[in-house]
Amino acid sequence: MIAAAQGVAAHAHAPYSKFPVGAAVRSSDGRIFVGCNVENASYPAGLCAERAAISAMIAAGATTLTAVCIFTVTAEPTMPCGFCRQVMREFGEHVDVICATPTDVERTTLEALLPRAFAREDG
Ligand code: THU
Repeated sequence: MIAAAQGVAAHAHAPYSKFPVGAAVRSSDGRIFVGCNVENASYPAGLCAERAAISAMIAAGATTLTAVCIFTVTAEPTMPCGFCRQVMREFGEHVDVICATPTDVERTTLEALLPRAFAREDG
């Protein structure tokens, strides 16, 4: 997953922040999907790498998320933003989160990053 996230980070469209991000997600059937951040001149229209990868997973017909990997070339591993944490929770309750740089890997879980998450009882 780290290699997949690192590979797709090269395709990030991040001319405004200059902060390219690659993400790889794994669905419960074992498939891996990738996404990168896609920024826009109208800044709020930008999309995070994690949500791009999750969108690819959903479009491919997978429905349950089991792991997310985020790759950045930074001194410290990058943690997913709050917006992406909530989107992850929509598709998985128990999600492994792997945050990687070229030299470091930090592992955590969505439950640790988003405790007491909002989730609809019928969702
Ligand atoms: N970004 C992501 O793609 N994922 C994260 O978890 C954190 C932030 C992107 C959004 C924006 O394109 C850039 O990084 C700077 O915030």
